[in-house]
Amino acid sequence: MVSFILCLLPALLATTSAQGETLTCNTCFGQTETCSFAPGTCQVNKATGGCLSVAEDITLDGTENTNFYKQCLSSYKSDIEVPISFTVGNGKYVRINTTRCNTDNCNSAVLGVPTGSTTENGLQCPTCFALNFAVCNNSVTPCTGDETYCMDFTGFLYQGSSHSPFQAKGCATASAQAIKPGTNLATALYTFDFFWGSSVPAEKIPTNPPPTTGASLETTTTTPNTTTIPARTTPGASPALGKFSFALYLPGLTGLLLVKLIS
Ligand SMILES: *[C@@H]1O[C@H](CO)[C@@H](O)[C@H](O)[C@H]1NC(C)=O
Ligand SMILES: *[C@@H]1O[C@H](CO)[C@@H](O)[C@H](O)[C@H]1NC(C)=O
Repeated sequence: MVSFILCLLPALLATTSAQGETLTCNTCFGQTETCSFAPGTCQVNKATGGCLSVAEDITLDGTENTNFYKQCLSSYKSDIEVPISFTVGNGKYVRINTTRCNTDNCNSAVLGVPTGSTTENGLQCPTCFALNFAVCNNSVTPCTGDETYCMDFTGFLYQGSSHSPFQAKGCATASAQAIKPGTNLATALYTFDFFWGSSVPAEKIPTNPPPTTGASLETTTTTPNTTTIPARTTPGASPALGKFSFALYLPGLTGLLLVKLIS
């Protein structure tokens, strides 16, 4: 039996390399659905590779960044299910829709950017986002839409050649449960390298005390009990976000085209 396999092995290897099947995917990058920057195609080994398409809306630096992105993936597998979205409070969120597929040009369709929802879902989570070891100043915030999990992530946030440690807490879609230590999430704009990650079902917003009526003006506010820790500012360690603008960054995008959505 063993010798049979040994005999077969060279034949198998020969077949594999002779096949050398390549997969062709679309490439492009842009801030609009036309995805018009660097349009073209790429090739990747069909056995392991795949095509990627990303539509994302990210506001972590305080401005809204919508990006569309198509590229080859050297490794097609990913533990992180998409779409994924998480909200860290103060209007800051990450929303990503992707397709990963492995037939020729299967990433040609334009993806929709997840729109999120402003409808509160009765759940709440501590939320905060901090860079460069600043204190992540939690405040409990109502969750919206299908963000029904509370997440707590720490890691490094890469943007081009720059990286910053970050901590993020907030409401997230169930797909965020796949974010564990050692996973990474590559977006068109950033790569999140997670050192630690946990997601638990969000708690219901307590119904006690009942909502204050307009008449009782002197009642205490219903602001949830927040722990307020004074922010420690680290001199010289200015947040990496905000230093970048998409336009400035365009020439460096070639490197980003290696982005993959996996650990
Ligand atoms: C992702 O894109 C697809 C294709 O456009 C769309 O049908 C789907 O609704 C999008 N997902 C989200 C969460 O927006
Ligand atoms: C912490 O967050 C609370 C609620 O958002 C805010 O009122 C407070 O000013 C913040 N504290 C610091 C030190 O940033």
